[in-house]
Amino acid sequence: YFDNGNKIFADARAKHYAVGAYNINNLEWTRAILRAANETKTPVLVQVSMGAAKYMGGFKFVRDMVADQMDAMNITVPVILNLDHGDYDAAMKCIELGYSSVMYDGHKLPVKENYARTKEVVRAAHQRGISVEAEIGKVGENQDTNSGELASVEDARAFAGLGVDKLACGIGNIHGIYPAGWRGLDFNRLAAIADAVDIPLVLHGGSGIPKEQVQKAISMGIAKVNINTEFQLAFQDATRAYIEAARDLDKDHKGYDPRKLLLPGTEAITNKMKEMIEWLGTPAVA
Ligand code: G3H
Ligand code: ZN
Repeated sequence: YFDNGNKIFADARAKHYAVGAYNINNLEWTRAILRAANETKTPVLVQVSMGAAKYMGGFKFVRDMVADQMDAMNITVPVILNLDHGDYDAAMKCIELGYSSVMYDGHKLPVKENYARTKEVVRAAHQRGISVEAEIGKVGENQDTNSGELASVEDARAFAGLGVDKLACGIGNIHGIYPAGWRGLDFNRLAAIADAVDIPLVLHGGSGIPKEQVQKAISMGIAKVNINTEFQLAFQDATRAYIEAARDLDKDHKGYDPRKLLLPGTEAITNKMKEMIEWLGTPAVA
């Protein structure tokens, strides 16, 4: 049902483009993202964090919702379903449930433990043809000026040696909103890592990085760009504008109907994603 993305991301790294990894938060997000992918005929990675899955009622619900929407919407492009920033238990659970890709994020553990756990996840996932992403270094937290922790070339080699399919590396990137004093991506470190390993590299915290930096990173080996906050902001802005405009409309307009209320935000996500697809250079499927 879901593509594991291995061919897609290998092609992306080889040809210097990226495929977006878009986080879902609910049904509207799911439909907005699938729609943008289908309308542009581009492959898509739909991902869910542990927190978002909990919010929606669990990993199984998320799997079924995405699969059902693919059917309902006649989605014809490859869809990769990925667990985003999973701990060990979540990764094993999603492997069991048939996600086609899991990120095991052990970056908070001492690197030896991260390595050992990643190895176990790789073994379990690969038995079922499921793809694995690992994280080394540290992606900074929301508004963090110290930009996390740079991934080392040594760790990149070691984790690639485990057979992980994709590697998320801290290269000065930050989740959420970038603070005013942000120093930008560390291209020297990215170059060194890209030189050392040939697997597709992942850029987390893709929202709010200037376009030139995103595109330069892609030209150097980033093949997957994770985007979450950008869509949340687009949804918020469009929803706020709708509510403010609807305040003056009479009750016959039924602007309070959630099917109307949530529509502008949902459309804003689709539009924002189409813009991102252009940024990333994601090509249409043949
Ligand atoms: O794993 C998810 C991403 O790294 C999203 O980061 O919210 O800064 O776009 P973002
Ligand atoms: Zn992330």
